[in-house]
Amino acid sequence: MNEDIRDILIEEEQIQKRVKELGKQLSEEYAGKRVIIVCLLKGAVYFACDLSRAMSIPVRMEFMVASSYGDGTTTSGSVAVRLDVHDDIAGMHVLLVDDIIDTGLTFERVKTLLETKKPASIKTVAMCDKKDRRQNGLDADYVGFTIPDEFVVGYGLDYAGDYRNLPYIGVLKPNVYART
Ligand code: IMP
Ligand code: MG
Repeated sequence: MNEDIRDILIEEEQIQKRVKELGKQLSEEYAGKRVIIVCLLKGAVYFACDLSRAMSIPVRMEFMVASSYGDGTTTSGSVAVRLDVHDDIAGMHVLLVDDIIDTGLTFERVKTLLETKKPASIKTVAMCDKKDRRQNGLDADYVGFTIPDEFVVGYGLDYAGDYRNLPYIGVLKPNVYART
C-alpha cells in the first residue's frame, strides 16, 4: 500500500467487479442505441476506459474538462468548462461519466451545457457518490459505490494531481494535507 494512504476504502478487485456489473447493465439498457460516453478529464479517465471495455455494445468516447477544485479538498462552488466535446452528439444517447459526485455542481453544469447540443438522452454515471454532500438534490443515474464524506484518492481520483494511478480507492493520511 502507498505510504500516504491511511485506509483502503475500495479494493482493486471490488472496483473491477462493480465496473463489469455496470458495463453489463448499461449494455442491456442501451442495446440498439447510439451511445457516447462523455468522460470528464482527468479523474474519470480510468473508470470510463474500464467501463467502456466492460460494455458489449458499440460505444463512442468524447472528453470534456470541467473544474471546480483547485489543489484543495473542497469545491470552489463555481464550475468552469475548459474543454468541450468535439464530435456532434445530436441524436445520441450520452453517458456522462465522472470519478465522483460530491456537491453535484459539476454534473449539473456539464449536463446543462450538453443539453443545448440536442442529444437523444443524457444520463450520469459516477464511480463514487458522496451522497451526504449534495447541494442541489441531483442524483447520478448510475453509481459504482456510495461512500462516506471523506476525501478519497486513487482509480483516477487525485489530491493536487497525485495518486490517480493507485488501483484502489483510499483515504489519505491527514499529515499529507498538512504538507501543502
Ligand atoms: P462536485 O462538483 O462537487 O460534485 O465535485 C465533483 C468533482 O470534485 C469530481 O470530478 C472530483 O474531481 C472532485 N472531488 C470531489 N470529491 C473528491 C474526493 O474525495 N477526491 C478527489 N476528488 C474529489
Ligand atoms: Mg474531477
